[in-house]
Amino acid sequence: ALSLAACSGTKETGGTGGAESGIQEMTIKISHVVAENTPKQQGALKMKEYIESESDGKIKVQIYPNSQLFGDKDEYQNLIANNVQFILPDMAKLVGSDPGFNIPSMPFLFESDEAANAFWDGEKGQEIFKRLEKDGVRGITNWPNGPKHITNNIKEIKGPDDLDGMKIRTQGGKLQEEIYKTLGAGSTSIPFGELYTALQQGTVDGQENTFSNIESKKFDETQKYMTITGHNRVEYALLTNTKFWDSMNDETREIVEKGIEEGTKVARQSAADLNNKSLEKLKERGEMKITELSEEDIAAFKQKLAPVYKAWTEEIGADIIKDAESK
Ligand code: LMR
Repeated sequence: ALSLAACSGTKETGGTGGAESGIQEMTIKISHVVAENTPKQQGALKMKEYIESESDGKIKVQIYPNSQLFGDKDEYQNLIANNVQFILPDMAKLVGSDPGFNIPSMPFLFESDEAANAFWDGEKGQEIFKRLEKDGVRGITNWPNGPKHITNNIKEIKGPDDLDGMKIRTQGGKLQEEIYKTLGAGSTSIPFGELYTALQQGTVDGQENTFSNIESKKFDETQKYMTITGHNRVEYALLTNTKFWDSMNDETREIVEKGIEEGTKVARQSAADLNNKSLEKLKERGEMKITELSEEDIAAFKQKLAPVYKAWTEEIGADIIKDAESK
């Protein structure tokens, strides 16, 4: 027999499981570290809009940008504790959980957002997401941001030898560290929320990021040079807490799932556009000297980083990298 709640479609409590039918009333928190005018926030806003309207307001979605709720250091632990239901970390911040998340840091691997999406949507990419199950985390999909470029305060970077002696902030992981070591530079990882101050105070000479992150956080106020290298990528993993996910009944989960699909579409469609707009704004603001590289200069970077690429192909898995290269 149907329960009374199911018949009348009234209140069910989220997070406890056992709800038979009817949309469960709950509040979902989404936390991230970047600014509002970014692809991550645009995707999150679409998720919120869809889920709230399709659930007739029974499901509330609260978005916390700018490391307001949790930052790089504590968001994953708080997802595991179900203090937040969705996070979207740069995959470079997940390499401690699985080496597969080094893939976006592989130099010159993906040529476009579409290639990266095809890999993460494919079998190998999905396998890597599944490996987070050991942490009680469900990896859902990737949201791209885009290629990273190097800013610094010391000198114009025209080729791979110009980084010699610089200290660069990275998002994290040994691969990024080895890239800079190979280029003769030192590196250290600093949470995104502390990066502006670190650049301003000279704790580091430079950093690598997407145009969107550089522009929306006004890193150009603290940096003299930017070189368009596009040497690797910022790629986000949309993650949720497995117990939270399993606590939803089918009706509720369908709405959330569809909200994720809609959010993913928006994030994927807006990333390249937002990055292009941000580059234009950076040019207009004129704070940094912006250097474009010739094909030969890019080839020189590629060549210098080839040993790192080879070593990390072994580390991550040759079959996985082969699949990524085919996209
Ligand atoms: C960074 O730390 O530079 C980026 O990963 C931030 C982000 O989430 O895009």
